[in-house]
Amino acid sequence: MAKPKVFVTRIIPDKGFDLVKEACEVDLWTEELPPLYEVLLERVRGVDGLLCLLTDRIDAQLMDAAGPQLKVISNHAVGFDNIDIPAATARKIPVGNTPGILTDATADFAFSLLVAAARRVVEGDRYVRAGKWKTWGPSILLGPDITGATLGIIGYGRIGQALAKRASGFDMRILYHDPMVAPGSNLPGTAVDLETLLRESDFVSLHTLLNEQTRHLINRDTLALMKPSAVLVNTSRGPVVDGQALYEALKEGKIFAAALDVTDPEPLPMDSPLLELDNLIIAPHIASASKPTRDKMSLMAAENLLAGLSDRRLPTCVNPEVY
Ligand code: GLV
Repeated sequence: MAKPKVFVTRIIPDKGFDLVKEACEVDLWTEELPPLYEVLLERVRGVDGLLCLLTDRIDAQLMDAAGPQLKVISNHAVGFDNIDIPAATARKIPVGNTPGILTDATADFAFSLLVAAARRVVEGDRYVRAGKWKTWGPSILLGPDITGATLGIIGYGRIGQALAKRASGFDMRILYHDPMVAPGSNLPGTAVDLETLLRESDFVSLHTLLNEQTRHLINRDTLALMKPSAVLVNTSRGPVVDGQALYEALKEGKIFAAALDVTDPEPLPMDSPLLELDNLIIAPHIASASKPTRDKMSLMAAENLLAGLSDRRLPTCVNPEVY
């Protein structure tokens, strides 16, 4: 029997790719940069399955370009804002993602960004390398305390809760804001409205999905509610923060510092004014980038792909209404 045809839009870890190779006729994109949209449109023609990354825009036009035989879209990411889910659902195409397995790696990274921004780790390194370190000084590179501070978590799903767990080891007071959490839930921390969270938190960490409600949730007005000593951390999606408003807030000292693992756009252009700021850390979207986590993500993405190709329910499906 002929093997199903799939397009894999980037080299992924062998753990998952070996499974795909064994079961499918694979067209693999081997370049370092993602395929351009026009190239994607060409390469998906006639495939039964698509294994894609968060850098690939998968919209209705692309699904139609693939053709009516397209059975499954498997995203090698937990986020799926790169995929038009209603369009996939309308075509009865299940979409898979990789939830759960990257929770700890991402929460670890969010906490390390929080610490690094507060305690000025990256600035300290630059200071040393620039030859500015002349002596131990009582007032050099001071930052706020982490232990005992208030942490506001926006988006209290798996990753937000895992961050709270880490913060509890630092005796932090946890506030959270998440309209999806049912009132009266017994999750650790205190549920508050967004304004209270922003006003009272020493650290604000973002863990929301990107959608029309959360795009530019952090903007000039919401940044103005934060304490001048506050630190903002974003490991969710870049467009949740209005970059221009963040630039102004950091430049004018309206907040103390920020750390971003995600930007808008990605990658951040080298002439972005954000890169001029000393009180901002920017990482290249690597919160889930531990080796074991990426291996597990590739496995889960492969399992979703293979399930869809053999008409089985995807182990982790973001649009179960297709069934
Ligand atoms: C990474 O950002 C992911 O969504 O997996």
